[in-house]
Amino acid sequence: MSILSGKNILLGVTAGIAAYKTAHLTRLFVRAGAQVKVVMTPKSMEFVTPLTLSTLSKNPVVSEFISHDEENETWNSHVELGLWADYFLVAPATANSLSKMVKGTADNLLIATYLSAKCPVYIAPAMDLDMYKHPSTTQNLDNLASFGNIIIPAETGELASGLIGEGRMAEPETIVAFMEQHIQKSLPLYGKNVLITAGPTYESIDPVRFIGNHSSGKMGFELAKQAAGMGANVVLIAGPSQQSCDDFPIKRIDVTSAQEMYEAVFQYYDQMHLVIAAAAVADYKPVEVASQKIKKSEDQLTLTLVKNPDILAAMGKVKKQQILVGFALETENELENALGKLKRKNLDAIVLNSLQDFGAGFQKDTNKVTFIDRFENKTTFALQSKKEVAKDIINQILTIYHV
Ligand code: C5P
Repeated sequence: MSILSGKNILLGVTAGIAAYKTAHLTRLFVRAGAQVKVVMTPKSMEFVTPLTLSTLSKNPVVSEFISHDEENETWNSHVELGLWADYFLVAPATANSLSKMVKGTADNLLIATYLSAKCPVYIAPAMDLDMYKHPSTTQNLDNLASFGNIIIPAETGELASGLIGEGRMAEPETIVAFMEQHIQKSLPLYGKNVLITAGPTYESIDPVRFIGNHSSGKMGFELAKQAAGMGANVVLIAGPSQQSCDDFPIKRIDVTSAQEMYEAVFQYYDQMHLVIAAAAVADYKPVEVASQKIKKSEDQLTLTLVKNPDILAAMGKVKKQQILVGFALETENELENALGKLKRKNLDAIVLNSLQDFGAGFQKDTNKVTFIDRFENKTTFALQSKKEVAKDIINQILTIYHV
C-alpha cells in the first residue's frame, strides 16, 4: 500500500508545457489511493484542460478566486484548500510561479493557496535549460528550499524547445516515488523495528477444547497499524483473532498458545526498538493436553493448570535498547497493580485499562486508558476509538522516549 493512500493531495499546475503530464500524475495519485484536488493558474489551462484534470481527480478544478457557473458565483477559499491538503505539489512550476512563490505575489489562486498551506510543499520545476540555469531561478529555488519547501529536481533530456539539457520536469512516476520516499523518511518511526503482541491465547485442554479469554485483538491490531503508518517495520504476533491488517505493510505471525507466542516473540526481540505487549496471554495452561476428547462421564472434572511463561516479564529481564511497554487490565486497585507490574516486569511504560470504565476493555471498539511512564507520570486519555487510543499511546511513547 502506498504511503499516499488516504491522503489529500493538492496539485498546483502552472503554465509550462509539462502541464500535459499532470493528467498522468493525477492518475498515479488516484491509483495510490489519494484524494486529489487541482488548482491551476489561469494560463496553465491553455496547456491542459480543467475538464481532463477534474475527470481524472474526481473533483472540481479551481483556478479563480470566484467561479461563475450559469446560476451561481462561488468563492473558492484558498485558506480552506490550503488546509485541506496533507501535501501540496506544484508541478510543473514555471520560473514565473517560482518567483511569485518566493515573493508571495498572491495574484492568483494557486499562489494564495501556497501561502495558506501548512502542509509540506513539493515543487517540481520545469523550464528550458537556460531559464533553469539562470541565477534568478537557482536563487529562487534555493530560497524556496530555505523556506522548508521540497524541490524535486528537474531532469536532463530533450526539452520542448528541441534543445537538450537540464530543465525537464521529473517524470510523473519519479515525482510520485520521490514524494513517497520523502514522506516515508520523515515519519517518526522510519527505520525502527516495532513488535506488537495482540489477541488472546488459547490453551488446549483436549483436541476440541481450550482455555481462552474474550480478547478481540482490536487494541493490538490498531497499535500495529498505527506504528506501520508512522513508518515502522512492524512485526505483529497475534493470537487467534478475527482482526485483519491485510492492507498494511505488517509482518503478521499467527500463534495459538502462550508458549507459541513466547517463541515467536523471542525470534524477533533482539532487533526491536519498541515492543508493545497488548496480548491478553493466558496465565495458566492445562498441565497436559488429553490426546482424545474428554468424555463427560463424571459429575466433576478437575483440570490441573501450570503457569505459562510471562512473555513480557521475560523480555524485561533481557531488555537492552528496547523500549518495552505493557498493558494492565485491572478490575480493582488499578493504579497500584499497574505500578507493581511496571516495576516487576522492568517496563518503560504501562497502559492501564480498567474494566470499571464504561466503554473500555475486551471486544469493545472504544477504550479509555491511563499511560504511566517509568518515572510514574500518569496521563489519562478520554474514552475514544481504539484507533485514536493507539495513536495517543504511540505519540506518548515518542514524546517521552527516544525510540
Ligand atoms: O501480569 P499481567 O498478565 O496482568 O500483565 C499484563 C501484561 O503482561 C500485558 O502487557 C500482557 O501482554 C503481558 N503478559 C505476557 N505474558 C503473560 C501474561 C501477560 O506477555 N503470560
